[in-house]
Amino acid sequence: MNKYIQDNQKRFIDELFELLRIPSVSADPNLKDDVIKAAGTTARFLKAAGANSVEICETPGYPVVYGDYFVSPNLPTVLVYGHYDVQPADPINLWSSDPFEPVIKNTEVHPKGAIFARGACDDKGQFFMHVKAFETMVATDNVTCNIKFMIEGEEEVGSENLAWFVKKNHKRLSCDVVLISDTGMVGPGIPSLTTGLRGLSYVEVEVTGPNRDLHSGLYGGAVANPINALTKMISRLHDDRKKITVPGFYNKVEILSPEERAELAQAPFSLEGYKKALDLVDVDGEDGYSTTERNSIRPTLDVNGIWGGYTGEGAKTVIASKAYAKISMRLVPKQDPKEITELFTKYFKSIAPSAVRIKITPHHGGEPYVCPTGHPGYSAAAKALNDSFGRKAVPVRSGGSIPIVALFETELNVKSILMGFGLDSDAIHSPDEHFGLENYFKGIETIPLFYKYFAQKDK
Ligand code: BES
Ligand code: MN
Ligand code: MN
Repeated sequence: MNKYIQDNQKRFIDELFELLRIPSVSADPNLKDDVIKAAGTTARFLKAAGANSVEICETPGYPVVYGDYFVSPNLPTVLVYGHYDVQPADPINLWSSDPFEPVIKNTEVHPKGAIFARGACDDKGQFFMHVKAFETMVATDNVTCNIKFMIEGEEEVGSENLAWFVKKNHKRLSCDVVLISDTGMVGPGIPSLTTGLRGLSYVEVEVTGPNRDLHSGLYGGAVANPINALTKMISRLHDDRKKITVPGFYNKVEILSPEERAELAQAPFSLEGYKKALDLVDVDGEDGYSTTERNSIRPTLDVNGIWGGYTGEGAKTVIASKAYAKISMRLVPKQDPKEITELFTKYFKSIAPSAVRIKITPHHGGEPYVCPTGHPGYSAAAKALNDSFGRKAVPVRSGGSIPIVALFETELNVKSILMGFGLDSDAIHSPDEHFGLENYFKGIETIPLFYKYFAQKDK
């Protein structure tokens, strides 16, 4: 390990802890002050690392933290993107320690320790690797590219105000490539580069029957029960082969060639290990596709939440007035979230029984993204990972979404390199989220190598 990193190891952990202690949950309006505090802390650490023009840029929502470091007009410019907001910590009783009081514990996968806290991996721990790698480069006089940082506070709620910010700041954000650590690796010690992200269409549906909750004996059987209606409609959204039944849903989905599928199948994967890690009786999904394909190159439709009626203790005999569900559709390249939302809305209304009313509210969405492995940024990242891990990086298509990445392409005309260091077992968005200390420091070591190789791209 680089001497500067070695000498500052403890401080690099302590400073990340300070950030992790702030409950910057962008979805929770009660934590507004903490989200804003996290922006301030991020800005302070960026400045201390050596960034210039550090600014907490106001938006109609949470601020964007910007900072840069200019070396020479002859060098390429890299824009680092990350997010300081986190997912809600609930259900808090399922955490083995306070989600906002980071602790280091050993796990089977991380025998040398992992930091347990909400945001440890997604994305505070990962964007902080960039701040510390940058500090190391400045301190050791080894900054080989011009660097811009843009850390936002609304990724977990759809990045709508970041889109606004990017559109207004083309010049300030101009760069040759975007570098992001907000994804994962296929397995411990296996360096990975994410070559694709899925898009997202997200809707909330409301089914209304009678104008008030009713006695289920006096009215049952004679009026539509919105919960019965909703669950039946939901059950019709997939066929027996687990294909989505919304007409037109697959129209723009690209069919991968057998060669492309074979290449993706090279990424190490154990079905037994997957089942064991999740305590699954069996895997499940669309006929004709492997587990890895089902969660990456194929689109999906999932109910994320469903509620209505009486759910308290004991039995209450009631027919609810309303039933609700939140439904997400993960999209693959060429599928357009707006169009998919329209197709869904039309179909969902068409399958509703005539005795209920339907209201559909679209939430945030996001476009899918692909990165060719021939891009100079991909090559630089592959070389960097090869140096630090001593083995070849695996290209992977991820099932997750980072909504702003497609916009970087349309607005700034640049590709994003997704060099993540998280593991599936790090439990992002779940109780006991954590990030391996080894991964954290591997990231800090690898990032300067990316700049070194990217600066040499035209040579
Ligand atoms: N960092 C994740 C996305 C991710 C994780 C991509 C692992 C690939 C591998 C990001 O913070 C996230 O959770 N995105 C949301 C998007 C949404 C809230 C708009 C997602 O994918 O659900
Ligand atoms: Mn993230
Ligand atoms: Mn996330």
